[in-house]
Parts: sequence; C-alpha cells; structure tokens
Amino acid sequence: MIIPPRKLASSQDVTPETLFWNRRRLIRAAAAAGLVPLAERAQADALRLAGKANFAGDEELTPWKTVTGYNNFYEFGTGKEDPAERSAQFRPLPWTLTIDGEVHKPQTVDVGALLARPLEQRIYRFRCVEAWSMVVPWDGLPLRDLLKRAEPTAHARYVAFETVLRPEEMPGQRTGILDWPYREGLRLDEAMHELTFLALGVYGKPLPNQNGAPIRLVVPWKYGFKSIKSIVRIRLVREQPPTTWNMRAPREYGFYANVNPDVDHPRWSQKTERRLGDFFRRPTLPFNGYAEQVAGLYKGMDLRKQF
Ligand code: MTE
Repeated sequence: MIIPPRKLASSQDVTPETLFWNRRRLIRAAAAAGLVPLAERAQADALRLAGKANFAGDEELTPWKTVTGYNNFYEFGTGKEDPAERSAQFRPLPWTLTIDGEVHKPQTVDVGALLARPLEQRIYRFRCVEAWSMVVPWDGLPLRDLLKRAEPTAHARYVAFETVLRPEEMPGQRTGILDWPYREGLRLDEAMHELTFLALGVYGKPLPNQNGAPIRLVVPWKYGFKSIKSIVRIRLVREQPPTTWNMRAPREYGFYANVNPDVDHPRWSQKTERRLGDFFRRPTLPFNGYAEQVAGLYKGMDLRKQF
C-alpha cells in the first residue's frame, strides 16, 4: 500500500523494491548454478502440505521466508520488512473476537479455542494492489461458518471488520499515518461466499504476528488490502461501512477492490503483476483468477465506477 502520492509518478517510483529484487535474483542465479544447496523454491516444495484444498491450480507456492518476510501491516511500519522486524512485542493470545450488530445471536469467540480445533487448509493466490502476488497455503475456516452461528438478521447487508487497537504494542498506531484502528468491509453476500476465509495459520503453523496473528481475513479475488489482519470485531450492518484505504485515498482505493486488469490505478496500470520470486511479470487475471466463482456477485454493476 502506498501513501497517496502528491509528487510520485509511477509504480516504479513508489515501490522501492530494487534492493529486494536484486537480492532475490542473486539467490536464484546462485541456485541455478548449484551454489545454494537448498533454493528457496525447493524449500517451499518441501513444505508443501498434503491434503490442502488447492485454489491456485498447479502454481508454485511462495516460500515461507517471503510470505512471512515481505508484508504490509502499517501497524508495525510502512516498510515491507518492518512487520517482521517490529512485531515481536505483539501478544496475539489470549484473543477474543466479537461478532455483533445485526445478528440474532451476538458471539464472543475465543480464538485460542478456535486454533485448537482442526482447521481447513487452503491454497490461494493473493495479489496486492501494488502489483505483486504470491501463492499462500493458509489454515483457517470459511468466514460464513462464524457468521451463520451469529444468525444475521434480515437487515444485515454489509459486514464491517476492525483490527485491534494497541498502540503500546503496535508502533505504527503511535503515528498518524492511518486513521486507527484499521477497518475493512464486505457486502454480506461477499462475506458469505465460500472462498472468503478467516486464516489462523500459514504453512501449517499459527499465523506469525506480521501476517495478522491470531486471525485475519483472506478474500482471494480482491486486492490484498481487503484482507484485514488481527481482527477483534466483526459487525453486521445495514449501510456500507467506512474502510481505511478508501477513507485515506478514495480516488485510488474503492470499497469493492476486486482485482481488475481493466481498471488502472490512478498512478499505474493493473494489467500485469510480479509473482514474488519470479523475474518476469505475468498478466493479471480478472478477479485474480476466481472469475468463474465470483463474477456473478457483481452482475449488473459497472465495475469501472464501483472499483
Ligand atoms: N491489515 C491491517 N490491520 N493493517 C494493514 O496495514 N495491510 C493490508 C492487508 N491487511 C494491512 C492489513 C495490505 S495492503 C495487504 S497487501 C495485506 O494485508 C498483506 O498481507 P500479508 O502481509 O500477509 O501478505
């Protein structure tokens, strides 16, 4: 994610990745030359877990090191390596998640207890608005399993999510870079879709702090910023709720945020993406490759206007 511009002109300028990519290129070149005994990709394959529901076809997994070392989590800073480096003080357990608002049975969920249950394992493509993407093996449960337990009323039309507010443990929250706490929202039918997932783990381990411990959202057909981390409250509401990036830069980040190669971001094209670890860019697919499953949710909408 990027703080709105003012003077920057292109994604190359605003994504200071040169160092990162140079290092990765070196690693891959070294691996190809047989200089690195266990290339990162091989490591990922070694960690590939059996029995996962695979929503990414035969695409290679992004290595653990990248999934947990290159993050967006502004509560811990704006740099991609800040979350891994600055989140050690964060205490993800014990943790309760409240589900309230337009529901018949408000719930207080003990997330520690959820973690103790058998979790569903799913591999999803994940794409950030900044045009990088990865393939991640998550563990968790469909959001709709929790929402159904709370029994939404007939008035519930949207779902509002909120991240924990703990400035003492989250240095970014001691700055005014965003309006805290981080907030996101979905339409109820999006939230109830079978692809929408609450992740509690990655690569078979509980979520590291930098990935949104202990519980975060994954909406695989939308840009990564919808996938809100460290959630403490889920509220069912009647009106479209305010969301962090939409409030921060409404021209750049809409409420829907469906991955859409046909709608340029005001400062860059959305037509291609770089899978972390790859050298070449690849075309971006509508709805991040999940069009068959989700395009029906948006029938009749002008997705250029409702971006
Ligand atoms: N959730 C919170 N609370 N704060 C954030 O800054 N960043 C979002 C999303 N969820 C963010 C957040 C963005 S921009 C992205 S791309 C994804 O988290 C990144 O998830 P990852 O670090 O696990 O890849």
